[in-house]
Amino acid sequence: MIVKEGLEDVIACRSSISRVEIEDGKAILEYRGYNIHDLAKHSCYEEVAYLLLFGELPTKSELEAFKEELKDLRELPPQIIGLLTHLPPFTHPMVVLRTAVSYLGSMDKYIHYRSYEHSIEKAKSLIAKFPTIVAYYHRIRTGQNLVHPNDELDHAENFLYMLYGEEPSELEARCLDLDFILHADHELNASTFAARVAASTLADMYACIVAATGTLMGPLHGGAAQKVIEMFREIAVPWRAEEYVKEKLKRKERLMGFGHRVYKNVMDPRTIELKALAKMLAEQKDSKWFEIAEAVEQAAYKYKKLLPNVDFYSACIYATLGIPDDLFIPIFAIGRIAGWTAHIIEQYENNRLLRPRALYVGPKNRKYIPIEERG
Ligand code: SDX
Repeated sequence: MIVKEGLEDVIACRSSISRVEIEDGKAILEYRGYNIHDLAKHSCYEEVAYLLLFGELPTKSELEAFKEELKDLRELPPQIIGLLTHLPPFTHPMVVLRTAVSYLGSMDKYIHYRSYEHSIEKAKSLIAKFPTIVAYYHRIRTGQNLVHPNDELDHAENFLYMLYGEEPSELEARCLDLDFILHADHELNASTFAARVAASTLADMYACIVAATGTLMGPLHGGAAQKVIEMFREIAVPWRAEEYVKEKLKRKERLMGFGHRVYKNVMDPRTIELKALAKMLAEQKDSKWFEIAEAVEQAAYKYKKLLPNVDFYSACIYATLGIPDDLFIPIFAIGRIAGWTAHIIEQYENNRLLRPRALYVGPKNRKYIPIEERG
């Protein structure tokens, strides 16, 4: 038995959702066969969510209908709003998100129905409601009135509208829409794998999403985004970045927002898109975060040949958009919910229980000693 620590390079299942590969020293990321750079350039989050769920790009009428379905599903039931009101205001928004998902499941009388049709309905409801849960909780914890969904606005712009109470600029909406596209799926990352493990036991979709949401929060995964902005705040000015990075690496500490299990020594294709976006936004909004980020990136490469991952420049974008630090991970989840639900449905459709083995390294064949004789 060969132990593959962290299941590194272990192929755990077949999937037709995302292709993540290194070809000729370049990283390729495709959703259902479409290159992420094409989707970043031409698509919108609703279209990408449709693609991930149904496997094909929608026609114009299919996309319009899908957008309308999501709009009709955005509003939260009063019980969920009550939950958001009663959670302590210091509750981390990711804890709020997973709690709200669990409560939504308890209200779904078809919670245990796993047919394709039922699963698609649950997926659409969760994709539509994730932004509302996050925005509503933020309004409640900051003592502001709820800003209800605006059906005139698309997914990303409506999220910013519900969060801030005013319509975002075209650039702000486009930035967040692109961020959602780039976070929508990424093969068997830890949170998606957690969702598929739960789905492989035939647990309900809400249980699978609670597993995924809890997993994403870890700082080695989606939680890194919040750690990145905290690092930028500590550095404060670009000229302090190099010394900060050098000292951190000397202490054998991890640089949040750098490194990747799959993209070893190749740039994450999403980083290319996010860095360009962060630079453009910084120029428009005169934000200091991009300069600090670039200085950190240069130092990380200089001292350890580390490359930035998806969390690095997205943290720069969120900070420049004025989004509170602890909403960075929930925003990752708002993008990723489409991929999670697509993987859960794929697992249900062609399931085999996911149950790896462990190489036992503890003591064996020990004789039981009655407690009186244990000294
Ligand atoms: C995401 O899987 C996905 O697709 C995830 C994701 C997605 O879309 O779902 O892309 C999103 O989670 C991105 C990753 C966000 N996490 C972080 O930014 C946290 C910091 N990064 C790491 O801790 C690390 O890079 C991991 C966890 C992401 C990957 O770790 P691995 O594959 O287990 O690599 P490793 O720990 O074996 O490190 C290999 C070497 C080590 O050097 P040596 O000890 O051999 O000298 O690289 C070094 C590590 O020390 N290294 C780092 C580092 N990442 C790797 N050193 C300092 N800082 C880092 N960030």
